Amino acid sequence: MKKVLLTGGTGFIGSHTAVELINSGYQVVIVDNLSNSTIDSLDGIENITGVRPEFVKADCSVFSEMESLFEKHGGFNSIIHFAALKSVVESVEKPLKYYNNNIISLIYLIQLLQKGGGGNIVFSSSCTVYGQPEKLPVSEESPYQPVASPYGNTKKISEDILRDTVNSNKSIKVVALRYFNPIGAHPSAEIGELIIGKPLYLLPYITQTAIGIRDKLQIFGNDYDSPDGTAIRDYFHVVDLAKAHVLALDRLVEKKNKSGFEVFNLGAGKGSTVLEIVKAFEKVTGVKLNYEIVGRRAGDVEQVWADTSLAQKELGWQTESTLEDALLTAWNWEKRLRGKEGK
Ligand code: UFG
Repeated sequence: MKKVLLTGGTGFIGSHTAVELINSGYQVVIVDNLSNSTIDSLDGIENITGVRPEFVKADCSVFSEMESLFEKHGGFNSIIHFAALKSVVESVEKPLKYYNNNIISLIYLIQLLQKGGGGNIVFSSSCTVYGQPEKLPVSEESPYQPVASPYGNTKKISEDILRDTVNSNKSIKVVALRYFNPIGAHPSAEIGELIIGKPLYLLPYITQTAIGIRDKLQIFGNDYDSPDGTAIRDYFHVVDLAKAHVLALDRLVEKKNKSGFEVFNLGAGKGSTVLEIVKAFEKVTGVKLNYEIVGRRAGDVEQVWADTSLAQKELGWQTESTLEDALLTAWNWEKRLRGKEGK
């Protein structure tokens, strides 16, 4: 059986990817320090797939912990590297924490892979590397733009590290996936986006407001150059995103990659404003949302959505779920978490 190490595999995107990998016949090993997720994800993965992946609690930025994991498994040939800190705001306040965690852990993984003779890495990157692109939809050819946060910078630097590594070592192959805005949850509501503390992202804030944990949603700015003045993003279903990881890993395992370092955009290829998301959520759930318009959030770009034609052509990937599916599954997950109405 093909074995793959998922760093950060109990998190939002990691847990959904674990499900799709198991369903595609991969043996999944998860390493996570549980700083932003809980062990309950394993129950969810097991309830959906019938398989409980091996789990190791360890920190990817502590070399000795990763070395022991690699030694125990006789090395890994494939890694999907999700584990990273991801709060834009926190990264501005504590940049060294972000550089230390996100960059060091990547370097250690590469070193351990090299020690074992090489292998495949699928890397979680972000559309943040495009900043505010000049041309929309944005394609992979679009140049890096100055990134608004240390978090974003860690993604850009990580891509550079991976590209340079591949150039110097032909036994390492990389696919970097630039995510736009993944939302939603597994249709079973067994796994979803767990929020520890106050939500930073739009969808969890919406679902927590709808369920009554938050008073009201604040919409950051309605003076952008968009149809209703609110900012535009490319929201898509996390299960579609998870499936893209399987295609990316298959491509590397089957040696179908065209170069040692490839990059793909992953999104719906369509932009929605914040207000459009609010209205769509209200329509699909029947829940009225309390919201107010406030000033712009520092560091936000005005609008960004993906040109996904490369992922379609090369990975054979496109989104299957609609925005409405994604919103409804996010809501069902929130209700499940709060023990209301069940699945
Ligand atoms: N928004 C609100 N109110 C909220 C939360 C968000 O109005 O309470 C707005 C934001 O201002 C933005 C949109 O909703 O216009 C989406 O915001 P998110 O925080 O959900 O997502 P971002 O597009 O800001 O963040 C995403 C990724 C980050 C990445 C960033 C780069 O989640 O990891 O893109 O642009 F760094």
